[in-house]
Amino acid sequence: MSSRYLTMDDIDLRNKTVLVRVDINSPVDPEIGKILDSTRMRAHLDTLRALSKAKTVLVAHQSRPGKKDFTSLMAHAERLTKLLGRPVMYVDSLFATGAKRAILALEPGDILLLENVRYYSEETNLKGDMETLAETHFIKQLSPLIDIFINDAFAASHRATASMIGFVPVLPSVAGKLMDKELGTLHKVVSGAERPAVAFLGGAKADDSVRIARNMLEQDSVDDILTGGVVANIFLLAEGVNIGDSSKQFIERNISDHDKVIEDAKALMEQFPGRVHTPIDVAVDVDGERREVKRMYLPSEHRIKDIGVETMVSYIKVMEKAKTIIANGPAGVFEQEAFSMGTEEMFIAMAQSTGFTVVGGGETSAVVQLLKLEKQIDHMSTGGGASISYLSGEKMPIEEALIQSKKWYQDGYYQH
Ligand code: 3PG
Repeated sequence: MSSRYLTMDDIDLRNKTVLVRVDINSPVDPEIGKILDSTRMRAHLDTLRALSKAKTVLVAHQSRPGKKDFTSLMAHAERLTKLLGRPVMYVDSLFATGAKRAILALEPGDILLLENVRYYSEETNLKGDMETLAETHFIKQLSPLIDIFINDAFAASHRATASMIGFVPVLPSVAGKLMDKELGTLHKVVSGAERPAVAFLGGAKADDSVRIARNMLEQDSVDDILTGGVVANIFLLAEGVNIGDSSKQFIERNISDHDKVIEDAKALMEQFPGRVHTPIDVAVDVDGERREVKRMYLPSEHRIKDIGVETMVSYIKVMEKAKTIIANGPAGVFEQEAFSMGTEEMFIAMAQSTGFTVVGGGETSAVVQLLKLEKQIDHMSTGGGASISYLSGEKMPIEEALIQSKKWYQDGYYQH
């Protein structure tokens, strides 16, 4: 699709050893280790099928250190095997002898998945430019065994880590099929989004969302931001609304540096008055039952689990006028039936919009699929944070790196 960077069609991959960074980070039941949704894996199948004559090494992450679903990738290899109809081997090592032996033993057509790359502190703790990341032990140990780097992990493309960009200075690097499709579509939206443009930001990754909201407003890439989920609670706190101890404790437990995130949200609302919309009512959980509470009657001793009905009506009015709508994250705890209404109403409104609609994120896509609305959404992105970062005008480290790699490739730099 692109001429800005190389794609898999530009390089002969037959008999080559290729390292493919994929994003198969999936919802996992921490008790039994079962993968609950394989949308992200299915999204890579075109890329993997196109590598039937290459020796393929897959690198991926699952969750983050400290989270309950931070697991090894054995179950992912089994699920990929079923989806692909070809064996995907797994080795519980990233660059130690076990991994190297397994890579050297690959035959054309073989696929090998290495261990969760975030088990290694260099991947988790070190962020930086690609030259710095190319110096990590991980890249230095693996790159001599690999001919081509393919990045297909669009969903992680807002992360500047070793596995995402560290191979670029040492190996010819191309975009995988999913990466190319995502970057191509989103690039078109950023370069010509019709106004008014509206973003719905929900879910639990509130630190990312506040950063993205700032970007969107500073770059004037959207007109209005509607908030739901934990993101809404952060903005309510920023406005000085006491949301109640139970909802506050949830934020304290789940968002590191929450005080700073709230301060940032406050500064943003002061700088751009009226542009970030917060709920005028919420739904709280009273022994599993939904109870609507108007904002003026907060705090509630019960946890907030959805936006309220009046909020839904006012958000839908904003969406009806929009020519571009992008959404990331649910409006509440949609897995519980009593609190799924806000999320459902937001996505139904998007599906009915005549504007261009983009939905990002594994969890968000799962809701859209559950509601059978995917055909009415213009672009279902595999990346939540990634798509919304891109659409907010943030530079994506991997896109920059791939563009650079094409220049280096054409200049003969990789032959040195
Ligand atoms: C995601 O799920 O958004 C990507 O896999 C990136 O994960 P992260 O937010 O833990 O970096």
